[in-house]
Amino acid sequence: KTIAVFASGTGSNFAALTEFFGDERRGVRIAMLVCDHKDAPVVAKAHAANVPVFTLNYRDYANKAAAEAAIVAALPPVDLVVLAGFMRILGPTMLAAFPQRIVNLHPALLPSFPGRTGIEDALAYGVRVTGVTVHYVDAGVDSGTIIAQEPVRVLPTDSFATLAPRIHQVEHILLPTTVAALLAD
Ligand code: GRF
Repeated sequence: KTIAVFASGTGSNFAALTEFFGDERRGVRIAMLVCDHKDAPVVAKAHAANVPVFTLNYRDYANKAAAEAAIVAALPPVDLVVLAGFMRILGPTMLAAFPQRIVNLHPALLPSFPGRTGIEDALAYGVRVTGVTVHYVDAGVDSGTIIAQEPVRVLPTDSFATLAPRIHQVEHILLPTTVAALLAD
């Protein structure tokens, strides 16, 4: 089986995927990284892991549909598209190219705290449990069908600096294992 990973920044979840699927016995190959910032740290991680990279600057295209058409043209055939910190909302071009085959990772327990600041928003609200969600991508923001979730306790003493690393640790396990389970079905 093959996957494509879309990421925009650090790429710690991309690294977790390359490490997990680096074991060839799992039978999953990361066929491409797609990144919308050519200098993002995730790009260097892909080069180091020998994963082909497609970078693009959305500003070079007339609109989102044109940018996504370029992505679709660059992608090899894949069984699943995995959004791991890709900071753009997908449009109809991508959604139509991979119907029910795009998943996203979110650092909160959806449907609570969608959007870009899920960790901060959970802290600000004062919930005592937050967590991590993997869900199918639809046209909304973090609104697709939930596939897997894992809770993370919020301590009374937590700040973003102490909570975020615990969220990321859980992400680094939940995302690869969920992708593997989806591809095994
Ligand atoms: C993760 O927290 C993910 O849930 C969110 O963006 C972050 C990406 O982190 N969508 P990284 O680039 O994988 O380190």
